[in-house]
Amino acid sequence: MNDGTQRQYGPLGTVLVIIPTYNEAENIKPIVARVRSAVPDAHVLVADDNSPDGTGKLADELVAEDDHVHVLHRKGKEGLGAAYLAGFHWGIDRGYGVLVEMDADGSHQPEELPRLLTALKGADLVLGSRWVPGGRVVNWPRSREAISRGGSLYSRVLLDVPIRDVTGGFRAFRKETLEGLGMDAVASQGYCFQVDLAWRAVKAGFHIVEVPITFVEREHGDSKMSRDILVEALWRVTAWGVGSRVNRILGHKRS
Ligand code: GDD
Ligand code: MN
Repeated sequence: MNDGTQRQYGPLGTVLVIIPTYNEAENIKPIVARVRSAVPDAHVLVADDNSPDGTGKLADELVAEDDHVHVLHRKGKEGLGAAYLAGFHWGIDRGYGVLVEMDADGSHQPEELPRLLTALKGADLVLGSRWVPGGRVVNWPRSREAISRGGSLYSRVLLDVPIRDVTGGFRAFRKETLEGLGMDAVASQGYCFQVDLAWRAVKAGFHIVEVPITFVEREHGDSKMSRDILVEALWRVTAWGVGSRVNRILGHKRS
C-alpha cells in the first residue's frame, strides 16, 4: 500500500451500486429506495441468483419504474463472489467509473455511501470498516462479532495486509482498480471473496482507505453465512498465507 499522496486521481465517473441478492424479498425494495435517495445520480444493479422467494421479480418491478435501476438475473445460487464478478463485468462493459459493493439487508447503510465516495476521490479503493475508530456494529450477537473480528485478524496477520476490516462487504472501487487486480483469477465463492479482493489490491500497490461505518444487523430474512462459507475462507486464507511465505523463503517474488 502506498500513501497515495503523490498520485493524481481522475474524476470518478458514474457510480454503479451492485447489490447481490439471494432471498431478500422483504429487503430489496426498501434498500433500493434508500440508495436512490442517498445518491440520486448513482445507478443500481441487483445481481439475483434466481431467489426462490421472488426477489428477482420484485427487482423487475423496480426496473420498470426507474431507469437508474437494473437487474442481472443469474441461473442459480453460485455465491456472493460469482454474483459480484458478473456485476463488475456488467458495469465495466457499460462504462461505469465506480463499482460499489453493498449488501441488500440494510447492514450497509446507503446514507453512508456519500462518505465512501468522497474518500474515493483520493484513493483507488475505499473500504467501509467496522473495525477502525468510529466504526461499529449494531445488534450482532457476540459470537458473530467474534467470528468476524477473528477472521479479519487471522487474514491480516497471515496475509500481511494492513487493513482492519478485511472481510467487510461495503466497498467502492474505481473501475481501474478492478481492472488492475486480476479479478478474473478470483476463484473464491463465499465471503472470502472479500478477503481475496482486498489482498489482491494490496499486492497490486493500490491506495486503500478505510472509512468507519456503522454496520446494522438485518431485521428481515436470514444471513447466508454457513459452515461451508467459513470453511472455504479458513482454508483459502491459510493456503494463500502459507503459499506466499514459501515463495518468499524460496526467494521468489510474492505472487
Ligand atoms: N447473488 C447472491 N448469491 N447473493 C448472495 C449469495 C449468493 O450466493 N449469498 C449471499 N448473498 C447476498 C445476500 O442476499 C446479501 O445481500 C449479501 O449477499 C450479504 O449476505 P448476508 O448473508 O447478509 O451476509 P452477512 O450479514 O452474514 O455477512 C456480512 O458480513 C460478511 C463478513 O464480514 C456481509 O457484510 C458480507 O459481505 C461480509 O463478507
Ligand atoms: Mn447481512
